[in-house]
Amino acid sequence: MRQSSLVVVANRLPLDDSAAPDGACEWRRSPGGLAGALHAILEQTPATWVGWGGRVGEARPLPDIGTLRLRPMSLSEAELRGYYEGFANSTLWPLYHDAVVQPVFDRGWWESYRSVNRRFAEAAAEVAEPGATVWVQDYHLQLVPQLLRELRPDVLIGFFLHVPFPPPELFMQLPRRVELLRGMLGADLVGFQRPQAAHNVAQLAAKLLGTHGADTAIVTDDRVVRTGAFPVSIDVAEMRSLSARPYVANQSRQLRHDLGGAHKKVLLSVDRLDYTKGIEHRLTAYSELLRDGRVQVRDTVMVQVAVPSRERVESYRGLRDRIEREVGRINGEYGRVGEPAIHYLNQPFDRADLAALYQTADVMVVTPLRDGMNLVAKEFVAARRDDSGALVLSEFAGAAAELEDAFLVNPHDVDGLKETLLQAMAATPDDLATRMKAMRAYLTRHDIRAWAGAYLTDLDLARSPSLGLR
Ligand code: ADP
Ligand code: F6P
Repeated sequence: MRQSSLVVVANRLPLDDSAAPDGACEWRRSPGGLAGALHAILEQTPATWVGWGGRVGEARPLPDIGTLRLRPMSLSEAELRGYYEGFANSTLWPLYHDAVVQPVFDRGWWESYRSVNRRFAEAAAEVAEPGATVWVQDYHLQLVPQLLRELRPDVLIGFFLHVPFPPPELFMQLPRRVELLRGMLGADLVGFQRPQAAHNVAQLAAKLLGTHGADTAIVTDDRVVRTGAFPVSIDVAEMRSLSARPYVANQSRQLRHDLGGAHKKVLLSVDRLDYTKGIEHRLTAYSELLRDGRVQVRDTVMVQVAVPSRERVESYRGLRDRIEREVGRINGEYGRVGEPAIHYLNQPFDRADLAALYQTADVMVVTPLRDGMNLVAKEFVAARRDDSGALVLSEFAGAAAELEDAFLVNPHDVDGLKETLLQAMAATPDDLATRMKAMRAYLTRHDIRAWAGAYLTDLDLARSPSLGLR
């Protein structure tokens, strides 16, 4: 068994399983923030990534990607339903996102979640060399830190939650709340996107486990668990160099032409098709602007990219049906021949085509009801080659705390959203340039490498416990 000094444990492997029938292995740039974020830092680091390849059934061995070894995990059909679609994505996901959809508490799913977490912990224990650093990712694997500590007390364990951690009163609804909290606190350092999450966890731990401590460290019976905010970011350099390719410029010119030419304002949204992303609220706002004659299809067009996600989960299927009906209604009511009000694209795009879309937008509309970070907002800023373009950004995305020069909006307030869209469309070039410059400068300093560096440096402090206490 080959072992590594750095092990990443995440639900998904970062490769596109379907692109590898001939054994060739390619990075999966899956529509989802986690794999893309970590890909940037791991492709040149000797490490092992433990994760699921995206297909049901026995996992087959996979070749290394550069210096990165892959340890594929298998998931049976029953595990996919109980662990991934069930407990992770029908219980934890909605609960952690302000319960914008009612979380489902199905007692049958817990066993599956626990046993999959145990298998991931065992796999991590196998591939970690003595004293290794093991970095566990996200809500799918919240029990892994504690399980791994029992198996391998010698390793340093980090846990990072990419999604929000809810306020105590919501978390308290979870039937398995104590196990989930203890599981996560098995780590040496628990990282979140926002300081508020660390505060929520400290309060919860005091209430449920009787621990002491503050927002930066929780003292349990026998250990100190450090906590903190480490806002995740993107590979700014990669997005910039993609954006500089002639293909992207040509593609963007073509898109602009196809969308109606220079005089049209292009509103763009790019999301996984997920109820947390606020797509329905956005469609309502746009449709009312059209209804009230405040925008017209002859001078404005919306592009909504909504890549399929978690399609077997009932709440996602229902959402897709509602969105597609609404897009049809809006186009039926307000579109003209050859001039739809909305272009709806329910498909994945490769990175260069996404960059071209970002470059084509006049207004990027990112309005999740709740989002741990939202990397699309950051990608848009990084992809712009000039100082034009407006970003309308939800206050409820983690990114809003960093991209303060966006047009910030509460997406639940449809009237406010309408006004903000109009304001962004009417902003002067000077105003846009000031905002874009500030956001770009911020991102340059806070890219994905800065994120990983800050987290791993802080995690390493736990090796000398006296220094580990901040
Ligand atoms: P989440 O992690 O909830 O999906 P983020 O906005 O943080 O949300 O990350 C989404 C990631 O998925 C981004 O890197 C974005 O570029 C990518 N993505 C979104 N839509 C598509 C699409 N249609 N095709 C390919 N990638 C996409
Ligand atoms: O953090 C959000 C997240 O669950 C990530 O783990 C993942 O990158 C993304 O959403 C996509 O989700 P899924 O792996 O369920 O397709």
